[in-house]
Amino acid sequence: MFRITSLFIISLLYLSFAYQDDYSGYKVYQIVPNNEDELKTIQILIKHPQMDVWTSSKLIGHPTVFMVPPTIDYRLRSSLRVNNLPYDTLIEDVQSTVVNEKHEQAAARRIASKQNGLLTFKQYERFDTITWFLRNLTNLYPDIVQLINIGKSYEGRDLEVLKISSGGNEDKPAIFIDGGMHAREWISPATVLYIISQLVENYSENSALTDNIDWYIIPVINPDGYEYTHTMSRFWRKTRSVNLNTYCRGTDPNRNFDFHWNEVGASSDPCDEIFAGSDAFSERETDALSNFVLGVKQNIKLYLTFHSYGEYLLYPWGYTSALPHDFFELETVARRANAVANKRYTVGSSTNVLYSAAGGSDDWFKGVAGVNLSYTIELPGGGLSGFDLPPSRIDEVVQETFEMVKVFAGYIQEKFLYNRFLLH
Ligand code: ARG
Ligand code: ZN
Repeated sequence: MFRITSLFIISLLYLSFAYQDDYSGYKVYQIVPNNEDELKTIQILIKHPQMDVWTSSKLIGHPTVFMVPPTIDYRLRSSLRVNNLPYDTLIEDVQSTVVNEKHEQAAARRIASKQNGLLTFKQYERFDTITWFLRNLTNLYPDIVQLINIGKSYEGRDLEVLKISSGGNEDKPAIFIDGGMHAREWISPATVLYIISQLVENYSENSALTDNIDWYIIPVINPDGYEYTHTMSRFWRKTRSVNLNTYCRGTDPNRNFDFHWNEVGASSDPCDEIFAGSDAFSERETDALSNFVLGVKQNIKLYLTFHSYGEYLLYPWGYTSALPHDFFELETVARRANAVANKRYTVGSSTNVLYSAAGGSDDWFKGVAGVNLSYTIELPGGGLSGFDLPPSRIDEVVQETFEMVKVFAGYIQEKFLYNRFLLH
């Protein structure tokens, strides 16, 4: 009997791993450009469709990190040598970091299970738990929170925006926040959940923020992808929608927004990591988000979208190197927020500090929805891969980021409340 059950368990275990993506032989390289020439070579290199770019920048001294499959590794190395580009091998075998992280996750789960509180921020949560948490808040704090269903993901998961509002004046300025646009960037949903938890569960301490401002927050805008990184493929980035005439799935949601769509830094090949989609808003997730935002846009004064990694505070545009007419304000507010992070973040327009990429949500919020203060925040990396920031470091990152969010919110109060108060 014992034999049979253990055999059964082993085969179950095997089955559950058998279809997971295997990153054996995948390598991760880092290049830190020392001059303009090296920078130029990197810009060409990262256009290779088979390279998975993890972080990159147009600035000298800032790392570009990318993962390559074994099939192109040899050619890549020779081209690095030919071009005289010094590089570091950050990860010799990506699969071993994935396995490592799984162990870390299991250990973190044991620690988290011993703590109280709806969420502990000791582990990366699964989508079901996140949904459960949001729904629980509506029961516990019905006076200040409301969960708004804005649609469903491709695989049928509920997309729910939490509205936090202490009532009163209907015309309060609002802040819109999203996370989890890119599936593998796990620290992003964790950060957004912490912001929610602070605003709602720690209401008494943060009431100034919720009394004067309405908040619309969605922690995981790409839940299908997020779940897929937990169960099948750790470095999945896109949505999970099926594409025509290919087995390659998914669209990069952050290339799918309808503003200068697919003009630059995006791909028309569904097999690429930066596939812009068959059309602007081809994805149910970006379509639902944009429709909801268009309905409340008059109130939204600030948009924050959390990504990882690399510590960048980015503002539009991503589609052109030209700066928005109000870039000085965008820059000034970002610098203020950066002060609480000891100025570790690099501040600038996405095209000028990262790379050109059209169809991003930040560009759309500013260019179409008219939300002038629009930012992409690239959170800190950690671990070996950058995406595997150990669960033990969630606390420190989310707490610091909440301090930054307070600065942004403080500016919104200053600009839209005090001014109005003085004028009337
Ligand atoms: N890492 C993000 C991405 O590649 C940066 C987006 C910046 N914004 C933009 N509109 N390009 O999606
Ligand atoms: Zn991202």
